[in-house]
Amino acid sequence: MRELDSNVALVTGGSRGIGRALSIQLADTGATVYTCGRDEEALHETWSRAGEDAELIAQSADVTEPLSMEALVARIHEESGPLDLLVNNAGLLGPLCPIEETPLEGWRRTLEVNLDGTFIATREAIPALREADSPLVLNVSSSVGRRGRGGWGAYSVSKFGLEGLTEILADELDDACVVSVNPGGTATEMRARAYPDEDPETLPTPDEVAETMVLLARTLGPDQSGYKYNSRDLFEYVGRTPLTVAAELPRVDES
Ligand SMILES: NC(=O)c1ccc[n+]([C@@H]2O[C@H](COP(=O)([O-])OP(=O)(O)OC[C@H]3O[C@@H](n4cnc5c(N)ncnc54)[C@H](OP(=O)(O)O)[C@@H]3O)[C@@H](O)[C@H]2O)c1
Repeated sequence: MRELDSNVALVTGGSRGIGRALSIQLADTGATVYTCGRDEEALHETWSRAGEDAELIAQSADVTEPLSMEALVARIHEESGPLDLLVNNAGLLGPLCPIEETPLEGWRRTLEVNLDGTFIATREAIPALREADSPLVLNVSSSVGRRGRGGWGAYSVSKFGLEGLTEILADELDDACVVSVNPGGTATEMRARAYPDEDPETLPTPDEVAETMVLLARTLGPDQSGYKYNSRDLFEYVGRTPLTVAAELPRVDES
């Protein structure tokens, strides 16, 4: 079991949605949490919502800009030392249309944020992750990154790439645990753009989904590296005492 209160974490895309909820929850457990995004006002709002004693540092940084991520990771290392947890959460929905109608710019930008951004953040973070005792990387994926869906081309392909990157990193980083987690439909701005007619009240909240990611952060170790999880399968394990052990958590390739 990981003691999160002594951990240092980086969550990308913490200015709203799932990334904001997760950054706040991790900080409220006592972890030192760094988060980033491009919207400075929204990042400030994330910071202000964490508890008074929480160590939550919200810095403007774009995952597609290597220098921006390099500076953020350098700051983390200088201020807090080894990086225990990296959550690659920043994401863009991109154009929702058939391939034949997909504009090249929209295709490229979606892959740039979701796949290149994850590659850049992870590559920059690896030296600091290697210094941690039991480093963990959570890559936030999607159901359409595991099974293609018409009309979701660029986003779906970007998440397939993220699943592949997860497998490669799990193979390369011997002492780390690298997994993917699919939040499933969650009441965020991204979801509202994808399904404008849906009632968000019918969906899990970002807080509920973030709790499943905190559960993974608490329980996973190198033996689970390369596994794929669905937040939906984990809801029932949140809050269980004594805490569930990682081997009991349902993973996708088992179901
Ligand atoms: N919501 C769902 O139903 C759902 C379902 C499956 C998977 N997911 C995945 O879950 C993750 C979070 O989604 P969400 O629904 O919370 O989305 P969201 O509400 O749209 O938030 C996306 C976050 O990503 C950040 N971001 C986007 N581009 C960025 C960039 N270039 N650099 C840094 N940060 C960037 C945004 O910050 P700025 O705009 O400030 O940069 C924002 O904080 C995504 O990876 C998404 O694909 C969501």
